[in-house]
Amino acid sequence: MIKIICVCGARPNFMKIAPLMKAFNQSDKFQILLVHTGQHYDAKMSHLFFEELNIPKPDINLEVGSSSHAVQTAEIMKRFEPVVLDFNPDYVLVVGDVNSTIACGLVAVKLGIKLIHVEAGLRSFDKAMPEEINRVLTDCISDLLFVTEQSGIDNLKKEGVAEDKIHFVGNVMIDTLLGNREKAEKSDILVKMDLKPKNYAVITLHRPSNVDDIGNLEKIISAFEVIEKDIKLIFPIHPRTKKNIEKTDLKARVEAMKNLVLLEPVGYLDFLKLTANAAFVMTDSGGIQEETTILQVPCMTLRENTERPVTITDGTNRLVHIETEDILKNYNELKKSGFTVAGRVPKFWDGKAAMRIAEIIVDKYLLAG
Ligand code: UD1
Ligand code: UDP
Repeated sequence: MIKIICVCGARPNFMKIAPLMKAFNQSDKFQILLVHTGQHYDAKMSHLFFEELNIPKPDINLEVGSSSHAVQTAEIMKRFEPVVLDFNPDYVLVVGDVNSTIACGLVAVKLGIKLIHVEAGLRSFDKAMPEEINRVLTDCISDLLFVTEQSGIDNLKKEGVAEDKIHFVGNVMIDTLLGNREKAEKSDILVKMDLKPKNYAVITLHRPSNVDDIGNLEKIISAFEVIEKDIKLIFPIHPRTKKNIEKTDLKARVEAMKNLVLLEPVGYLDFLKLTANAAFVMTDSGGIQEETTILQVPCMTLRENTERPVTITDGTNRLVHIETEDILKNYNELKKSGFTVAGRVPKFWDGKAAMRIAEIIVDKYLLAG
C-alpha cells in the first residue's frame, strides 16, 4: 500500500482534493489519511463542500483558524508534524497555493517525506501576492509536480526543476466541475432568487490587494455602482471582504445599490449554477478564471496579472486594471459583444486529471522500489 497524507485547508482546496480522494479510494493501492488544517472553518467556507462533493470526513482537523501569515503557517506546521510522524507516509500531497500548502509541504520535506504538489508551476510573477510565495517555495521542495497548463511546465523548467519530476496532467478543479455539472443543473438558486439566465452577473472578490487596500476597493465599488444600473449583480461575499466593507463607509454605498445582491458564500452547486448561467463574471479568484473558461462565460479578472495565462490565450478570461474607468471600459466592450466570447478547452481539462495523477504516483512508487 502507498501511504499518503492528503492535505486541505481553504475553500479552493476542497474542489481540488475531492477528485483525488475519489481516485485514490477507487484503487486498492493506497492508504490515505485526509488532514484538514482548519484554515477555513465557517460552515459555508468548509463543511458544506465536504457534503456536496462527497469528500470523506477528514481523519484529522488541526483547527488552526485565522491569524497573521506567520502565526497561521507556524501553527499549521506545529500541529501537522506529529501527525506525519505518527502516520509515517510515503508521500504528503498538497494542492494549490494557500498557507496550508506551504506549511504542510515544509513539514514533510524536513522529515524526509516526499512531497507531491498538485497545481504546480503557476506563476503570477508578483511577489506582493502571498500565494506567489507559497507557489514558488512549495514547487522548489516538491518531488512530484503535477501541472495544469503548459505555462506551468515552462516556468518550472526555467527554475531548474528536473524534467522527470514534472507531469502535465490537466486540472483537478475541472474534474470537479465536469463531475458536478448535472447535479448543479438541479440547483434551484435561480428560481429562488428570481433570476433568468444571462440577466445578471456574478461577482467574487477576496484578494488582499483588492479588498484590504480600501482605495482599490473603492475604485471597484465605484464601477459596480455604474454597472448595476444596467444589470443585476450577484455578490456572494468572502468573509475577508465583508469585514473590510463593514468597517468603512463603503458599507452604506454597497447597501444603497438596489441591483447588487449580497449573499453569504454559497455552496459549490449553487455557485456553479449561478456562474454557468451568468451573462459574465467579475472576480479576482484563481479557480473561477478556470471554471468560467470551461463554462464559456466571459470573465473579467480584476487583477494586474494572472498565474493562469491559458484562461486568456485559450479561454474566456481578460485582465482588467484596478481603475474604475478600465472596469467600465471592459464591461462596455463585453456588453457590445452581447456577452459572448469564443474560447476553447485547454489541453487535458477533460475530467481525468485525478486518475492520471493516481496512475503516475503508482508508477513512481513502483519504480523507486
Ligand atoms: C485564503 C488564501 C487564498 C485563497 C483564499 C480562498 C492564503 C495566504 N490565502 O485567503 O490564497 O484564494 O483563501 O478563499 O492562504 N475568515 C472567516 N471564516 C473562515 C475563514 C476566514 O471569517 O472560515 C476570515 C477571517 O477574518 C480571516 C480572513 O477571513 O482572517 C482571511 O482568511 P485567510 O484564510 O487568512 O485568507 P483568505 O483571504 O481566506
Ligand atoms: N466558490 C463557491 N462559492 C462561492 C464562491 C466560490 O463554491 O461563494 C467556489 C468556486 O466555484 C471555485 C472556488 O470556490 O471552485 C474558488 O475558491 P476561491 O475563489 O475562494 O479561491 P481561489 O481560487 O482564488 O484560490
